[in-house]
Amino acid sequence: MTLSLTILGIETSCDETAAAIVTRHADGRGEIVSDVVLSQLDEHSVYGGVVPEIAARAHVEALDTLVEEALAKAGLRLGDVDAIAATAGPGLIGGLLVGLMTGKALARVAKKPLYAVNHLEGHALTARLTDGVSFPYLMLLVSGGHTQLVLVKGVGDYQRWGTTIDDALGEAFDKTAKLLGLPYPGGPAVEKAAATGDERRFSFPRPLVGEKRLDFSFSGLKTAVRQAAEATAPVSDQDIADICASFQRAIARTMDDRISRGLERFSEEFHDFDGTPALIVAGGVAANQALRSTLTGLCARHGFRFIAPPHHLCTDNAAMIAWAGLERMALGLPADGLDVSPRSRWPLDEKAGALLGSGKRGAKA
Ligand code: KG4
Ligand code: ZN
Repeated sequence: MTLSLTILGIETSCDETAAAIVTRHADGRGEIVSDVVLSQLDEHSVYGGVVPEIAARAHVEALDTLVEEALAKAGLRLGDVDAIAATAGPGLIGGLLVGLMTGKALARVAKKPLYAVNHLEGHALTARLTDGVSFPYLMLLVSGGHTQLVLVKGVGDYQRWGTTIDDALGEAFDKTAKLLGLPYPGGPAVEKAAATGDERRFSFPRPLVGEKRLDFSFSGLKTAVRQAAEATAPVSDQDIADICASFQRAIARTMDDRISRGLERFSEEFHDFDGTPALIVAGGVAANQALRSTLTGLCARHGFRFIAPPHHLCTDNAAMIAWAGLERMALGLPADGLDVSPRSRWPLDEKAGALLGSGKRGAKA
């Protein structure tokens, strides 16, 4: 039986600098011993989006202090951990370099193995840390850079069933907010405005609804929002609320259709599945209540468990990176050499090709 293992995790792929200490106990249970995150939101919000150079510099300035803080909160010294895990991609290359080089330096100094972790794998395996979910399950990742439905079959064994052919879902929220004059990041602002709006006032398109493929598309929706705003100009607060509510409704309907098909496919492929299958959600858009109630409803309809890890573990964090390293280490999978390079693009499912028009913001995950 595997002994208890403890890893220091580092995450720097986008605009959060994070470090965490996570233990995997001998019985397989995960425990987050410490988890610190520094968001760079204030640095970027004036620009209405993440500025890569500013992000990289902010990681350099904060990371060593955060690593010290994570170790101190855990009551550990660097020599006490069994390994170091650092995000090696996908993401903004400057930030990845900072995190991975720091991870390499710490691994070298402490003579510990280094795990170069795929950020998406961190999101994919989080539900095993928080809820001990067993394989296989489906994961919906909805963030500012990704919209993917992934079959998680095992550690290192992923099949991408669907992805966006244009904008990511979070990006659609951010762009909608921007064109309505709402603050960045747009998701929370759109959700707040939608609360007092009439969701039936505008009839927005529901891209790819009814199609058998499991992909997503949101750029047409964004265009429709712009046209509605132009046609209504000058927009009042009530117009904005109505547009936001109608936009969220279109998204809820679209996601219901797409994800329902995904659950059906899972049920067909795993018809002998023992127990209740699960859908996991990850990424910043998982905070959206309209999306959550859609997912809760469709999981109930299809006999799936719906699992949403706590918000701070749905968004970018280092605990998920440490956990991904722990999963590999516990299975006896090899660590990475200190010559490993960061990868700004690194699909979870290496066999899944890039879709036309997708990944414009592949830097964000
Ligand atoms: O995972 P995340 O924190 O960062 C990365 O993309 O890496 O996701 C951020 C995205 C942003 O696009 C933001 O607008 C969106 O998540 N978001 C939301 C909500 N909260 C955050 N979208 C819709 N509703 C929300 N409540
Ligand atoms: Zn992420």
